[in-house]
Amino acid sequence: MDKIVIEGGRPLDGRIEVSAAKNAALPVMAAALLTAEPLDLDNVPDLADISSMRRLLQLLGVDVTHKAGEPGHMVLHCRELLSTTAPYDLVRKMRASVLALGPLLARAGEAWVSLPGGCAIGTRPIDIHLAGLEAMGAKIDLDAGYVHATTPRGLTGAEYLMPQVSVGATENLMMAATLARGTTVLHNCAREPEIVDLADCLNAMGARIAGAGTAHVTIEGVEALQGARHRVIPDRIETGTYVMAAGISRGRIELAGADTRLFGDALGRLRATGLVIDETEDGLVVDGRERRLDGVDVMTQPFPGFATDLQAQFMALMCVADGAAMITETIFENRFMHVPELLRMGARINVQGSSALVRGVEGLKGAPVMATDLRASVSLVLAGLAAEGTTEVNRVYHLDRGYAGLESKLRTCGARLERVA
Ligand code: EPZ
Repeated sequence: MDKIVIEGGRPLDGRIEVSAAKNAALPVMAAALLTAEPLDLDNVPDLADISSMRRLLQLLGVDVTHKAGEPGHMVLHCRELLSTTAPYDLVRKMRASVLALGPLLARAGEAWVSLPGGCAIGTRPIDIHLAGLEAMGAKIDLDAGYVHATTPRGLTGAEYLMPQVSVGATENLMMAATLARGTTVLHNCAREPEIVDLADCLNAMGARIAGAGTAHVTIEGVEALQGARHRVIPDRIETGTYVMAAGISRGRIELAGADTRLFGDALGRLRATGLVIDETEDGLVVDGRERRLDGVDVMTQPFPGFATDLQAQFMALMCVADGAAMITETIFENRFMHVPELLRMGARINVQGSSALVRGVEGLKGAPVMATDLRASVSLVLAGLAAEGTTEVNRVYHLDRGYAGLESKLRTCGARLERVA
């Protein structure tokens, strides 16, 4: 298995192009199942999770083509569905496969989607997705680990209050409702920028969605959706990760294509550490050279709160800040798997339930480390950039799921790291 070997202790200095958001690209790719016409997507990131979604869509009958010389341009065309089954093997590898459920049900009146099973960061059930579809008239059975959803007479618009804010359920239900008979009103929706991006794409396809980005989304069902062209938004989590790479290495990075409006509360929290973040004509510039950062408390929350997908990286940053920081994770029940690895690098962290108290240390020390999910892995890369000596981050395949060109981007800023087989 590959690992990334980092020689730390060098301030980063350079310019990085921000890639498109994985978590925006995955749902808009699934939206291609809703129409018999081509969906033209610009700015799709080159990631393992995108390849997994492409494989699933191809299995279901979507032709996926790329235009030569236009990296990131993908055309998805589902003339007709060849299958309505999202199999265990694919769903297990990439949970976003459950986003095929709503579109398949809406278009074909039937879907078999494997239950994803457990995951490194929490149990992550899909009960809210299923209850919302039931409210719209779907019949849901569980059979041999699969959800079998049917709507022989099509989906019907409904009013549904989600018991908990869920990004995936909001996306699945919004997609399903585009082709339902009548109007659907979803309450307590997730408000993440990726939801707005999906609604923009669906509306370009002829859907009638209002309120995306607020807690209440109204979808007037239409007869059919058409093809469209859509550009995926920049990755706010990748951006935040590189902002913290500059901070932890006491360097300066320009992030071209970054959009600070997508940050929500994270922007204020990052600035509160002492990081200087300024908008530029084409993105932002972050400067952490001036002084050691201050410890700042954060609590993860649905958007616009501090993103859970930035929590592990923020913890790495706080490991070398002045004073203490209380980091509380409220979204996932098991998202501190990076803590024991950071401890191996000399961090001082105490976990009590869903909170971690991080006491800043003078410096971290390189060590072999390994993580069980994407964001935890990248937090260890950040720690390695700041650490004295050599850090080996194992299980690199997690990073390939969500960070396009991670090593080359960091290397252009002067980081010393390489991938070793
Ligand atoms: C999305 O996952 C993201 N994935 C995650 O990104 C992100 O961490 C998460 O939203 C929260 O922001 C994609 O967009 C592909 P949720 P999702 O449904 O939709 C519970 C990354 O590193 N819940 O908002 O699966 C759930 O267990 C990742 O890129 C239910 O109880 O997250 C969790 O505690 C990982 N029942 C909470 O809600 C449900 O039916 C929020 O999950 C659905 C969710």
